[in-house]
Amino acid sequence: MLPKPPNVVAIYPGSFDPITNGHLDLIQRGSRLFDRLIVSILRNESKRPLFSVEERMEMLREVVQVYPNVRVDSFEGLLVDHAAEHSATVLLRGIRAISDYEFELQMALMNRRLRPEVETIFMMSNEAYSFISSRLVKEVFGLGGNISGLVPPTVEARLHRRLPQLQIKGA
Ligand code: PNS
Repeated sequence: MLPKPPNVVAIYPGSFDPITNGHLDLIQRGSRLFDRLIVSILRNESKRPLFSVEERMEMLREVVQVYPNVRVDSFEGLLVDHAAEHSATVLLRGIRAISDYEFELQMALMNRRLRPEVETIFMMSNEAYSFISSRLVKEVFGLGGNISGLVPPTVEARLHRRLPQLQIKGA
């Protein structure tokens, strides 16, 4: 068994298109558990994101700047390789509902097979945010629904600027 490292570095990976208050809640709680937390965006243009990786990184930086041990990054390729590059021993993921579990379990087991020294840790979403997803936020906003309280105010402002694009995508 490997000894516990003196500095536990965790990666919180995701698409964050855009970051929601559910993500932010996990970041806040994760920042208290680990010495360093790296919020890392997957570079995957095939998902046709609303915001570019650079825009998503900017949005994340705006909201995590209050946590001194949290930083923002992006990655391509295997998540476990990205973790190894940062000497991270933990992958942090949130579980909102039982429906998340199957996919998360598959990913965690695959990641463990690829690099057994990297542990996936799940945190239960705060119940206040357990129904929020980036996809639903975009859909509701694009259809004229109220999303205040679901995303940070800076993200809401950026969504307003993207409304025409959102409406085209939703059409
Ligand atoms: O926010 P998301 O879209 O649910 O995040 C999914 C993510 C980025 C965690 C996942 O797609 C990922 O880790 N992709 C990197 C590729 C990889 O390592 N695949 C093998 C592990 S299943």
